[in-house]
Amino acid sequence: MPTDDFFYYKKDQLYCEGIKVKDLAEEFGTPLYVTSKNAIIAQYRRFEKAFKPLNHLTCYSVKANYNLSVLRTLVQEGSGFDVNSGGELFRALKAGAKPKKIIFAGVGKTKAEIEFAIKSKVLFQKVESLSELRVIDEVAKNLKTTAPIALRINPNVAAETHPYITTGNDEKKFGIDEMLAEDAFSELAKHKHLKFVGLEMHIGSQIFDTQSYLEALFKLLGVKAIAESKGFTVKYLDIGGGFPITYRTTQPAPDIEVFSEKLIPLLKNQSAQILFEPGRFIVGNASVILTEVLYRKQNHRGKNFVIVDAAMTELMRPMLYEAYHDILPIERKEREIIITDIVGGVCETGDFFALDREIPEVKEGEHVAIFSAGAYGAVMSSNYNARLKPAEVMVDGKKVKLIRKRETYKQLIQNEVL
Ligand SMILES: Cc1ncc(COP(=O)(O)O)c(C=O)c1O
Repeated sequence: MPTDDFFYYKKDQLYCEGIKVKDLAEEFGTPLYVTSKNAIIAQYRRFEKAFKPLNHLTCYSVKANYNLSVLRTLVQEGSGFDVNSGGELFRALKAGAKPKKIIFAGVGKTKAEIEFAIKSKVLFQKVESLSELRVIDEVAKNLKTTAPIALRINPNVAAETHPYITTGNDEKKFGIDEMLAEDAFSELAKHKHLKFVGLEMHIGSQIFDTQSYLEALFKLLGVKAIAESKGFTVKYLDIGGGFPITYRTTQPAPDIEVFSEKLIPLLKNQSAQILFEPGRFIVGNASVILTEVLYRKQNHRGKNFVIVDAAMTELMRPMLYEAYHDILPIERKEREIIITDIVGGVCETGDFFALDREIPEVKEGEHVAIFSAGAYGAVMSSNYNARLKPAEVMVDGKKVKLIRKRETYKQLIQNEVL
């Protein structure tokens, strides 16, 4: 279990902070996302401590978990926010984020989103193409204002992680190719309604090796030199997110301090303010999904299936990235070990949480916890198979708050017109 401090067994019962999770399953039903508020706070503070020597602003990446209570927790800690759509901007503002602590990303911003960002007075928008520069200029002109923008640079570094979550190489759609940065500055110079304020990169997610960051940062500093040679001031230098967490205790992620030790010497003497965009690192290990074992079955070869009431609709990561999540019964006792697939009830072969996994034997009607579900879990949930989105609760010591109600059948069709 990668989250011992906030999820732990006491007297053979799984707890989240001061609450027995069995009580939560009984009170709120399953599937249920259970989030530890203090796990989020602890990770945020750890990140802040690691990068304390730098003049920096941490902009939590809202896409990892956008529940309003999660965002509010981070607003209260003083965090900034990295948003990737009008909807995420709306959420961050609703949670009480200060616009000057919000940065707006996205490779496919619509004019409406650009207008929303300008009117909200966000710190800057990150621009990913020359066409987008032109559109932001046009929108700002129509609004009779200037829009602060940063260029997202694709440093062309292949970070070692799952191919679907690497973003910083020239095969990928993200950012402006570092080789073409000169063109971007020439284009920028033509637009009166844009104010260049900085540079950004984001090379991927769940990156274990510091070397990728260093390589990318050297490239970014190269682009900074180009900017300055053309008379642009780089006020913000944004290193992106991607800092890893441990999903599997046998494959522990490097500590955040390993990254800060390597990055700080390169960034310490920069006049620019340094920005970070961690998502997974802050929330990944702060939630579990509680789910009930509905059925067990065995095929003629003796292969086991454990069928639970959560599914890919609550956690897409195993299907999308063959991601590993620890799965354990919430009650610890002497049990045989079985090898089994753990699957959901959706009509897709890819709807699994684990394949051929060794787990303590579980019975129908029992509950298991799927760990490390805080990042890219609830935010990727869907209504596929017309399933209802689950409830979410947040635990703070011995207090429990329902932070998202379970969806109803009525809500499922509320926007449809017959
Ligand atoms: C631009 C950008 N910043 C930050 C993040 C957050 O990444 P992570 O959750 O790995 O820290 C992402 C994730 O996709 C991203 O696209």
